[in-house]
Amino acid sequence: MMSETYRIGLGNNNNSLREKANSDFVSFWDEQAKHLSWFSPWDKTLDWSPPFAKWFVGGTINASYNALDIHQSEKSTKSAILWEGENGESRNVTYGEMFTLVQKFANVLKSLGVQKDDRVTIYLPMVPELIVSMLACARIGAIHTVIFSGFSATSIKDRVSDSKSKIIITADGGYRRGKIVKLKDVIDDAIKDIDFVEHVVVLERTKNKITMNPKDNLWNDLMNNISELCSAEALPSDHPLYILYTSGTTGKPKGVLHGTGGYLTHLHSTFKWAFDIKDSDVFFCTADIGWVTGHSYVAYAPFLHGATQVMYEGAPDFPDASRMWDILQKYKVTIFYTTPTALRMFMKFGDEIPNSFDLSNLRLLGSVGEPINPEVWKWYFKTIGKEKCPIIDTWWQTETGGMLISPLPGLESIPLKPGSGTLPIPGVDISVVDEIGKDVPVNTKGYLVIKNPWPGMLLTLWNDDEKYKTVYWSKYENCYYPGDYARKDEDGYLWLLGRADDVLKVAGHRIGTAELESCIVSHPSVAESAVCGIPDEVKGEVIIAFVVLKQGVEQNSKILEKEIIDKIRNNIGSIATPKQIYFVSKLPKTRSGKIMRRLLKAIGNNEKIGDVSTLEDGAAVTEVQQVFDELKTSIKNNLE
Ligand code: WT7
Repeated sequence: MMSETYRIGLGNNNNSLREKANSDFVSFWDEQAKHLSWFSPWDKTLDWSPPFAKWFVGGTINASYNALDIHQSEKSTKSAILWEGENGESRNVTYGEMFTLVQKFANVLKSLGVQKDDRVTIYLPMVPELIVSMLACARIGAIHTVIFSGFSATSIKDRVSDSKSKIIITADGGYRRGKIVKLKDVIDDAIKDIDFVEHVVVLERTKNKITMNPKDNLWNDLMNNISELCSAEALPSDHPLYILYTSGTTGKPKGVLHGTGGYLTHLHSTFKWAFDIKDSDVFFCTADIGWVTGHSYVAYAPFLHGATQVMYEGAPDFPDASRMWDILQKYKVTIFYTTPTALRMFMKFGDEIPNSFDLSNLRLLGSVGEPINPEVWKWYFKTIGKEKCPIIDTWWQTETGGMLISPLPGLESIPLKPGSGTLPIPGVDISVVDEIGKDVPVNTKGYLVIKNPWPGMLLTLWNDDEKYKTVYWSKYENCYYPGDYARKDEDGYLWLLGRADDVLKVAGHRIGTAELESCIVSHPSVAESAVCGIPDEVKGEVIIAFVVLKQGVEQNSKILEKEIIDKIRNNIGSIATPKQIYFVSKLPKTRSGKIMRRLLKAIGNNEKIGDVSTLEDGAAVTEVQQVFDELKTSIKNNLE
């Protein structure tokens, strides 16, 4: 299986780092951690009692200190955030200004009774105050839990209840495609029955009308007359920095818990190796901070390096298809990090649009969140990078904290292959194995596994060590199982082949099938439901849902369909809306009762049964054929 290679380097070649990492990954990470500022050194680099890892044990550190304090003598007037509002407004927030804002807001949190270890829920649009809130929490040792502003009231309620947040930070509204998303109203609805929430801080962004309740305080009121000085707490290296909820294979989202010293070490190193960050760079990552990419490579990593970054508030194609390239030109962006979904959309708009902008400052391009199709990679390389920018296809997860597989042009120059994440980062040992954990032959599809702990690794799942063990560490002994398919080619390059579990990836966002199914089943007319993803030209994957109604309920009802969709929007958020709902009389299951999702996928894709019959264990081919035919007929009747 030969594939095209692209040789494009940035002149960096530091092979000795890989050699060091291979010979002893623990002392390798020990060296890397020294690039951060610690209040006190650690006694032990790694305490590994599988599957729990503690990095830099005994050391004390603070994330906000490493993001801000250390830059004040040399970079206080340097731009930290070049913010672009969706409506064209802009703000330039310097490192000095961020430092003041964060200290003041940390004092606000203290004045509201927030203490070390308390959880703070943040539900804000993409504005600098979102980063201010996160760094202020980190400064005093409070644990932030940011919720993506597209999530619904029920999702927020679940997360606030699970994390027991006493404080919520939100805004009156946020702009999305020219409209105001009324965030404060969503919060009011979410917390109306939660009595442990003590205060809600409301940032005025859109000035839409809101109802102020007894618990509510305006951001600006709190920030007036508060001290500008708040020193950063010295926290143990494994102090929890944040909880970020992500979908898995069970009905409830999991609270991924990240620590401090290890996590920051991972981010500091990968930001340097992958992005080759220099003082003069203008970095732009398009991820929303509500997802892990925005946590790691917007809110933390650029700050650790005192880098300047662009932060954009709104939709990438608003008011039109040229918005992204306009931003790149306006701020002279040098490093651009985005998703395959966004790239596929830009590519569909045609070359003329990006060609009419000056993108000559670009020197490095990145991709994250889902597999990138080789055609899209090549388009990115030619049309956006003008064949002079390396592309880094970075594989990682909410749980891994930072990149684990990626080309590292800041470290070494290796040939790139469109569609491959290339090699693991130094110090990380990755294999592709079969069902029993044996390495599969070259170019054979298998499961990706990580064979040693790494510093950005999650500490555990919030309040659920048992689930942490079973989800990630029970499939293979002492190996982390991320739930992805992959293959390794003849050069040892890794090719990521999508999820191996019941997690969907829609526009790069994770959606758990069980979560969505239990939401659909909560509709009083629904007896059973199964959802699956089918390929989509832009979003990578879109959702289709199969629904069995309770006896006596009228089928094919448009009203019913709308009710189910509303339920999904209200319970999860519109990102989980299925593209198509099929009403069927029964679901295809194996004898052991497992839903045959691949069969559903095949139906959605209009494929033949032959392609799938052998893939499901416990199901006889003739039986599968029968269910398949039945389903096809009932769908056909459905659509007529
Ligand atoms: C899942 C993790 C990485 C931060 C954003 C998503 C898929 C991620 C790639 C890539 C192929 C990728 C995997 C992974 N994924 N990056 N470069 N190539 N697949 O974080 O929501 O936790 O999702 O995204 O399936 O397991 P996440």
